[in-house]
Amino acid sequence: MQFVPFERLTLEQHGEAARILVDAFVHMPSAWNTPEEANEEIALFLEDDEYQAWALTDDEKVLGWVGAVQHHDVAWELHPLCVDPSVQGRGIGRTLVRKLEEAAQQTGVITIWLGTDDDFGGTSIFGKDLYPDPLSAMKDLAPATRHPYVFYEQLGYVVTGVLPDVNGLGEHDIMMAKRIRP
Ligand SMILES: CC(C)(COP(=O)(O)OP(=O)(O)OC[C@H]1O[C@@H](n2cnc3c(N)ncnc32)[C@H](O)[C@@H]1OP(=O)(O)O)[C@@H](O)C(=O)NCCC(=O)NCCS
Repeated sequence: MQFVPFERLTLEQHGEAARILVDAFVHMPSAWNTPEEANEEIALFLEDDEYQAWALTDDEKVLGWVGAVQHHDVAWELHPLCVDPSVQGRGIGRTLVRKLEEAAQQTGVITIWLGTDDDFGGTSIFGKDLYPDPLSAMKDLAPATRHPYVFYEQLGYVVTGVLPDVNGLGEHDIMMAKRIRP
């Protein structure tokens, strides 16, 4: 398998990356619902210097990809992360995150942070009113289905907060971060 920067992918592989974005997030209403929306997202990573993405390929086939929004020299946002549903559960997501962390470490990044939405009932906070004390409401966070915050926890990310209602009432964004510099 190869970890390939987006700018080195072919046009056909960019199309594959867009398809994977739609297919992987099909259960999330707030994500990319159409090929047009996915193509716009791919274009950001090709045109804007602050956005960088890498795909994991096997024999030219795109298996998944990860993006980084480089808001700051020492802090990158991991966004987005998607693995083709036909090959999920084979360690590809984990490999993509580890590769991204290596790339970030090489440029002196201290922190990688991310938001992982629950607009589909994946956790115990879905549908709840988190005010007036969102942080205390987060103490009881638990998975209701296979929510990816558990995947990130396995990779050393910790829940650092929550953005209440950012996808609609009761549909929150779980914020996570990891210090990648020892
Ligand atoms: C989340 C995602 C990137 C994980 O990629 P993957 O290749 O399927 O995951 P891996 O095979 O690398 O899994 C690594 C570990 O995380 C676990 N894991 C993976 N997805 C999980 C999930 N949604 N919930 C709980 N655990 C999960 C795996 O069981 C595995 O654990 P193990 O080592 O104990 O067996 C992938 O399932 C995906 O694209 N999902 C849809 C899009 C998405 O939710 N992206 C993240 C949004 S922030």
